[in-house]
Amino acid sequence: MFYLESSESLGINEQGHLTVGGCDAVGLAHRYGTPLYVMDETVIRKALAEYKKSIDENYENGGMVAYASKACSFKEIYRIVMQENCGIDVVSGGELYTAMQVGFPAERIYFHGNNKTEAELRMALNYGVGRIVVDNLPELYRLSDISISIGKKTNIYLRITPGIDAHTHDFVKTGQIDSKFGFTLENGDALKAVKTAIKLDGVELKGLHCHIGSQIFEEDPFVFAAETMLDFMAQIRDVTGTVLTELNLGGGFGIRYAENDCPKAYSEYMRAVSGAVKARAAKLNLPVPFIVIEPGRSVVAPAGITLYTVGAVKDIPGIRSYVSIDGGMTDNPRYALYKSSYTALIANKADQPPDCKFTIAGRCCESGDLIQENTMLQSCQHGDIMAVLATGAYNYSMSSNYNRLPRPAVVMVKDGESRIVVKAEDYEDIVRNDI
Ligand code: LLP
Repeated sequence: MFYLESSESLGINEQGHLTVGGCDAVGLAHRYGTPLYVMDETVIRKALAEYKKSIDENYENGGMVAYASKACSFKEIYRIVMQENCGIDVVSGGELYTAMQVGFPAERIYFHGNNKTEAELRMALNYGVGRIVVDNLPELYRLSDISISIGKKTNIYLRITPGIDAHTHDFVKTGQIDSKFGFTLENGDALKAVKTAIKLDGVELKGLHCHIGSQIFEEDPFVFAAETMLDFMAQIRDVTGTVLTELNLGGGFGIRYAENDCPKAYSEYMRAVSGAVKARAAKLNLPVPFIVIEPGRSVVAPAGITLYTVGAVKDIPGIRSYVSIDGGMTDNPRYALYKSSYTALIANKADQPPDCKFTIAGRCCESGDLIQENTMLQSCQHGDIMAVLATGAYNYSMSSNYNRLPRPAVVMVKDGESRIVVKAEDYEDIVRNDI
């Protein structure tokens, strides 16, 4: 079973139950109820530490691992990231507020977004956020004006769209020309924005940012993006005389959802990219920039599983068999949105072969509410506990209350111990804002 071979967190105990972070998954389901998000703290810390080590080892002028917190955002995640001496990327006032609630060091925060509100920009300035990643000209002017009005000069990056077609799902390609994000390099918009930013009194242009997409397995697009950005930094120097010293290369490293997904070790991507950055900088006679990376999925996805209780099992002869669970697109909308692959198993029969083909159906009033179609599972029945693996990223953070379903709790496990880090919602939470 590939998920046991490739995971440091998962195992099978003497009862034949799935274990996660040293805890019996079936025991967790019974203790905390289902649906339940479970995250292994050790896996998160290890991923952050590995990225940080790669940055520290490969870049003589330093750098920062800024966890992309859109992947999974709640207070305890920010505490863990803070303790691992990493930074964060936030994309909204809500993420920023959550981080600040646990005392996250503001100077290690990178604030993104293609349409930040004036209130969010003011909030970021009040908190003293480290870098604001400016996405468009109206935002650039507005930020400069707000900064001047409060007597500040704000450190910024410009988000550049370098025109790279990374092989991934269409919805998560963000580096191409046809993108709502950033300043296009190819048509000269990016250079115009740089010239404007350099002239404005309220902002200090510190560097550039790009992000080429998500769930990318190849290293070439990352290398090409880094080289393209360095070429642009040299062009900026030649045209304006300004030498930018910081470069944020975004996130996007792929993870293993299914058996045929083959991500490289993150250290390999990092080695390839840093080699390219250093070689290009030397060739262009530029200083090696301070490098920021923003991994999201690869930090948290492998750390998470979701536990459900199996309800009805329905066989439609000659068509397919459905197994219904007590969650679905409200806690994991990724199959409904992107047809994303997931691996699932019956946690209380983890030692048995997955020899039955099932379509996993959620409980929403919506035919498309599926977690996976025609996937192999152990034979199962009402009351069994199902585990869906690698759900730590873009599940809790993309969850909803559709059909007025309360969001599940998040339990953090570590070395055989478990604790609630986000309480389950109840019906009172559901009506809280209704008048
Ligand atoms: N930096 C920026 C500016 C980003 O836009 C993103 C992701 C990241 C970093 C982190 O990328 P990661 O390392 O997680 O691939 N909801 C989609 C993914 C959307 C990604 C958006 N941006 C999904 O569930 O697949």
